[in-house]
This record gives sequence, structure tokens and C-alpha cells, in this order.
Amino acid sequence: MKQTLANLQTQALSELNAACDAKALEELRVKYLGKKGEITAVLRQMGGLPADERPVIGALANTVREEIEAALAVRSAAIEAAALTERLLREKLDVTIPGTPVSVGHRHPMSIVLDEAKDIFVGMGFSIAEGPEIEFATYNFDKLNTLPGHPARDMTDTFYITDDVLLRTQTSPVQVRVMESQKPPIRIISPGRVYRKDEVDATHSPMFHQIEGLVVDKGITMGDLKGTLNALVHKLYGAETNTRFRPHHFPFTEPSCEVDVQCFVCGGSGCRVCKGEGWIELLGAGMVHPKVLAGVGIDPEEYSGFAFGIGLERMTMLRFGIDDMRLLYENDMRFLGQF
Ligand code: DAH
Repeated sequence: MKQTLANLQTQALSELNAACDAKALEELRVKYLGKKGEITAVLRQMGGLPADERPVIGALANTVREEIEAALAVRSAAIEAAALTERLLREKLDVTIPGTPVSVGHRHPMSIVLDEAKDIFVGMGFSIAEGPEIEFATYNFDKLNTLPGHPARDMTDTFYITDDVLLRTQTSPVQVRVMESQKPPIRIISPGRVYRKDEVDATHSPMFHQIEGLVVDKGITMGDLKGTLNALVHKLYGAETNTRFRPHHFPFTEPSCEVDVQCFVCGGSGCRVCKGEGWIELLGAGMVHPKVLAGVGIDPEEYSGFAFGIGLERMTMLRFGIDDMRLLYENDMRFLGQF
């Protein structure tokens, strides 16, 4: 039996050395060390041995088992290492091969101009307020002194959801929401989307953007309005840009005005872009109507304020010399890539 065990060991070790993958190793483990393996078979025969030989053969069998286990571990480590080396060689990277170019995007021109405007206003002490795009008619109209019967409330101009709920036609309702929830002094801007039943053309879209502004405090005058809006225009379009404040009418301001910027193309002499006017309209503004202040519980005898609403598309078109608003919505990379 000693000889059988010795032969088993020699045979096992040489087969192990010849094995060249994990599967072959596992088969050998089962063949020699498994429950039905060769060593177990030898141990089974021990019953027929004289009592004094059993421990000797038992010990020898254990030694052989350990030898085979050790050899198995060594061989298995060697096979794994070889497999790893082989894989590393196969997966060699050529870092000099040119990569696939990734095109990095950038902000939309309107976002660029909006961020500039926000920075300018925040620099002047304004904070940024938000309001809902789906709005009550009371906020969009009544509380802004635009009473039933006013043409702006017409079904043909406004997207009504119900009789009382609509897609806001202007950012001005945010003025009311802010004044209802904050005490003066108030200094906010509120950018956002607004909706009107307009056909799409070079200067119209049923959805566009405004930036609302509101300042309420003691002793606010039209001079503050002019100074603030001039500061905005000069920072956005350059210190030499002229503005023109034209009388106008809005129900929620008194007096009201529209502010024009001198045409960026012709400098005021009149051209195609400014339709021969020399000026391009940028925004509506005015002194907050006493009725609007009183309606939100602010005493118009004590406080006054100014407000304005700027068209963000207009502002962007002026900033970059874009002559068709549709370009801003079409997501044409040939256009967007220029900014
Ligand atoms: N909401 C006006 C519009 O959409 C713009 C406007 C005019 C806003 C005067 C104001 C304002 O805050 O005071 O045409």
C-alpha cells in the first residue's frame, strides 16, 4: 500500500504539472482528492491491514493528500498568473490612437443674456422671485388694475384654461404675489415664460420670455426707474448706447413708458432691422399704480414704486444682432454654435 500511495503521488504531481487550465485542475482534484477519488479508495482498503500498520498508512495517506493539495495550489496560482499576463498582453492599449471627438455644448444665447441680466440686477441689490406660469385671472389681470372688459383679457389674446385660470400673459402677476408676501422695501426681478395667442413670425411666438422688475420703497421716483434701466442697458450693450423713454399706457403703472434702445445696426439713422425708426423697443415700465399698491395693502401715500417688463428674446436679439426670433427656438446647431 505504501507503494500504491507513492505511485499515486508521483502520478498526481506529474499530471498536475501538465494541466494547463483551471478546468483540468479541478478534474484532477476530484480524481485524486474527491470523495470517490484515488486516495479515498486507498483509505477504504485499510480495514484489511494489520492494526499496527493502519496508523502508518493513515499518516502516509495524509502526507500524500497534503502534498497533492499543495501542488494543486501552486499550479493553480501559476495558471492564474499566466492567464492574467496573457490577458494584459492581449488588452494592450495604444494611447496614441486619436480619440473620438466629444462635442461640448454651451448655454443657449437667451440663457447667456439672462445670466448677464441677473448678475447686473443682483449687483444692484435685487433678488430673484418666481411665480407660476399657470395663473389666476385675478393675479394676471384684476390685481394689476386690468378689469373685466379690458381688451388684454380678450379670449383671442389669452390662453384660458377655465374662466378664472390661464397661462400668464405677462410676468407682472409676480409683482402682486411678491407684494402680498413681502413688506417694502422690495427689490426683485422675476424672469420666466409667458403665453399669448400669437402666430409665429420673425418677432412673435405664442410662448416667449419676460423679466419682470419691481422696486417699492419710500420716495421712489421715475428718476430711479431711468437710472436703473440705463444702468442695465449700458452694462449689456455698452456705455455709449442711447435709450429713449416714450410715454405709453399700462393699466398697472401711472405714468407709464416704453423704453427704446438705439438701433445696434444703423446707430439711429434708420434701417431694415429697426424698420426705419432708428430705435428698437426693449421694455415697458412705469410707476406702480396707486390702486395696485392699495390692493395689496401697501399705502400709496407712504410708499411708491417702479416696475418694468423686459422681453428676453428682444434683449437677446439686440445683444447679438439676431434679426429673427424663430432662430432662438429652432435648436439649429449651425445657429447655436455661433455664441
Ligand atoms: N407686462 C407688460 C407687457 O407684457 C410689460 C410691463 C409694462 C411690465 C410696464 C411692467 C410695467 O412691470 O410696469 O407688455
